[in-house]
Amino acid sequence: MKLLISENDIQKRVKSLGKQINEDYKGKKPIFVGILNGCYVFMADLLREINLDVEVDFVKIRSYEGNSSTGTIKFRKDISANIDGRDIIIVEDIIDSGFTINFLVNRLRNSGPKSVSVATALFKKEVAKLDFKVDYVGFEIPPEFVVGYGLDYDEKYRQLKSVMVLEPEDIN
Ligand code: IMP
Ligand code: MG
Repeated sequence: MKLLISENDIQKRVKSLGKQINEDYKGKKPIFVGILNGCYVFMADLLREINLDVEVDFVKIRSYEGNSSTGTIKFRKDISANIDGRDIIIVEDIIDSGFTINFLVNRLRNSGPKSVSVATALFKKEVAKLDFKVDYVGFEIPPEFVVGYGLDYDEKYRQLKSVMVLEPEDIN
């Protein structure tokens, strides 16, 4: 595996994203909605930089098997909070094709929130096709398959503290 983003760089960047969100949402009470499973490490780090009155919820959707998108979305757990009239911040580990996040943004927008914004740790900007602008981006990365910081290859490597590029010899 090849190092792409170090633990130290991630921590610095997450702190500054948290600061930006604190300023942008001053006086508001946003709900952070994480997309499981991959978001949980970023969610835990980002949330602890937030000094607002916040709620946290999760959805579980899946478009990936192995290291490629299946092109269909499976909902395993829907949102639990009442998001009517609320400010929503979707928290995602990575935006690749954009398929997952487009689906969720559109779906949440149809549930009558006051606003929906998106925070992603990683963004494959060159390949993503989005219907909206991403508000908070940790790092733009090249379109390579990465693991660590919550991201998996077939449920492995989520615990790595840095972001690594998975190379062909790592797949067995
Ligand atoms: P999208 O729908 O193609 O944008 O893919 C989004 C989901 O696919 C993410 O939430 C991840 O779970 C997974 N994914 C996309 N790229 C990677 C990667 O490089 N490593 C690990 N998981 C990925
Ligand atoms: Mg994911």
